[in-house]
Amino acid sequence: MTQLFSVPDRVKQGSTSPIQTPDQYREHYLRAAADPDQYWLEQAKARVKWKKEPTLGLAGDYHGVAEEPISWFSDGTLNLTETCLDEHLKERAEKTAIIWEADEPGHSKTLTYRELHSEVCRFANALRELGLQKGERAIIYMGMVPEAAIAMLACARLGAIHSVVFGGFSAEALRDRVRDCGAKIVITQNEGRRGGKPLALKTVVDQALTDEHVVKHVVVFKRTDTEVEFEEGRDVWWHDAVSGVSDSCEAVECAAEDPLFILYTSGSTGKPKGLVHTTAGYLTYTSYTHEIVFDLREEDVYACVADVGWVTGHSYIVYGPLANGATTLMFESTPLYPDAGRYWNLVEQHKVTIFYTAPTAIRALAAQGDQFVKGHDRSSLRVLGTVGEPINPDAWRWYYDVVGEGRCNIVDTWWQTETGGICLTPIAPVTETAPGSATLPLPGIFPVLLDGDAHVIRGPGQGKLCMAHPWPGQARTVWEDHDRYVATYFSTYPGYYFTGDGGCIDEQGYVYIMGRIDDVIIVSGHNLSTGSIEEAVASHPAVAECAVFGVKDELRTQVPIGLLVLKCGVETDPVTIVSEVVALVREKVGPVANFKQVAITKRLPKTRSGKILRSALRKLADGVDFPVPSTIDDPAILEEIRIDLQGLGYA
Ligand code: WTA
Repeated sequence: MTQLFSVPDRVKQGSTSPIQTPDQYREHYLRAAADPDQYWLEQAKARVKWKKEPTLGLAGDYHGVAEEPISWFSDGTLNLTETCLDEHLKERAEKTAIIWEADEPGHSKTLTYRELHSEVCRFANALRELGLQKGERAIIYMGMVPEAAIAMLACARLGAIHSVVFGGFSAEALRDRVRDCGAKIVITQNEGRRGGKPLALKTVVDQALTDEHVVKHVVVFKRTDTEVEFEEGRDVWWHDAVSGVSDSCEAVECAAEDPLFILYTSGSTGKPKGLVHTTAGYLTYTSYTHEIVFDLREEDVYACVADVGWVTGHSYIVYGPLANGATTLMFESTPLYPDAGRYWNLVEQHKVTIFYTAPTAIRALAAQGDQFVKGHDRSSLRVLGTVGEPINPDAWRWYYDVVGEGRCNIVDTWWQTETGGICLTPIAPVTETAPGSATLPLPGIFPVLLDGDAHVIRGPGQGKLCMAHPWPGQARTVWEDHDRYVATYFSTYPGYYFTGDGGCIDEQGYVYIMGRIDDVIIVSGHNLSTGSIEEAVASHPAVAECAVFGVKDELRTQVPIGLLVLKCGVETDPVTIVSEVVALVREKVGPVANFKQVAITKRLPKTRSGKILRSALRKLADGVDFPVPSTIDDPAILEEIRIDLQGLGYA
């Protein structure tokens, strides 16, 4: 039996949440199970500022999703920014909406709700002047500056669809996304700052847009004094675009199911999937989960140190917190700059009460020693969150004991880009926690484990994690590729949403996530497809074939390893080939892939039908015993590869 940690008294006291006791949790869970439509309609009405209130809950189901995407509240209309901004002008106009902490320690600024509202309206007017209209797409390629949030909200003000691309992606990855969504405008910075170093954002945009003519304008926010090239007629400075522009801007009326954003995520093949989140369901769900899970209180200072390039930044830096009128912190730097005390300095300086990060950061910081934590006053903290990958019990204990000094509850939140918001999690004032477990489903979430024959496992067990019923925050489709959406998530187990994760449920119903069971790997909390890395590797002229797979890594969870088979007759020195392949991945996928380990091998293990046996490679590298796959063409290959992997320090 796992050791359970009860909720510290301090976390329970003073809660204003609708769910603050186990009984209330049960009551909500049962109500949402008995009548999901009614439950979510109530939430939608209470949380969203509607132009026209909806009367409909869910339409469609997982069986019919191929013919008709599911929808929620589909007869309602709204503009999301009225919930996130205008509504707060009544009682919270002078409350801080965003605290921005710059890369350089000690440099920060704040924006009140009134200021944020004005900035969003001005920038929305500027975008409209540049021709951006409802339903059109804008790519946001920025670092962690408030202008990134302003740009997202300004798009939403116009009913335009944004797609934020993480600043660690390369020009090619950016170009793929610009093309896939047909972006009319790209919003970027002359330069970003991270960990004391510059990020050449505008230069990457220029490379991405060479010979791309769909993009009409590039808006450039000036973050530093570094000069950048400007293309006459196309490029516009942000400050010029908003200069003299009115700060009043009509909030365009949108249907509940109009797309709010597209966010690209890795698939098992190379091409990223543009997941589409729609407006009202997403807003309802992020507002609900942000309040309930973290037990948000009016005076909280909430800090999620993710990046807006990922879904966590969308849902829990921007949309959820702003819908709830919270003070949300945006952090431009890294946990290790200038030293491993940076997060705790942030907490001390801004009196952060809720802190949300990823296990990879927790592990990296734990490895640096406790003194970096203890040097800072953390008495303001009440709730600590983690997201992005399973948290190992040691890291959990360190977070609980050292960072939180046993006074805070830890919410290990499981969710995905596809789910829009948190699904499995402790509720801060309610749930007894177990290190390494995302514990229980939120009301309205119905997880099941399926076995190899697609039967539901009742009671404790281990299987494929699926969801049995839709909820409002779920992604509705893949941009212009609904078939791919259906094939990826709804064809493996008809009638269920398949998460791609394996999981296990214990006697008390607590869920433990075992990780991905497809070709998606998690590197430092970033989701990457081995397929996209393989494509980049295979584009090297000397490579005949290759396999890329993830191996366990203590700090980063997983790192990708590449095995290459060279074409016959290649005479280039192998060391040169390896470094060229590494550079290619950096160029085509981006530094985010952390692709450094490559071995050249004579051949790859395959099935008789010619499929590369990736799972065997993974197990070999991780040093796990496994039966030789019965379909393998030639078992002797495994021994050859073991030696190659040992050369890299694995197996
Ligand atoms: C993994 C991030 C264990 C999981 C919000 C999922 C987790 C993938 C947890 C989604 C957690 C996320 N415990 N695993 N608390 N949270 N994951 O789309 O494999 O970037 O499928 O969304 O991260 O990653 P994504």
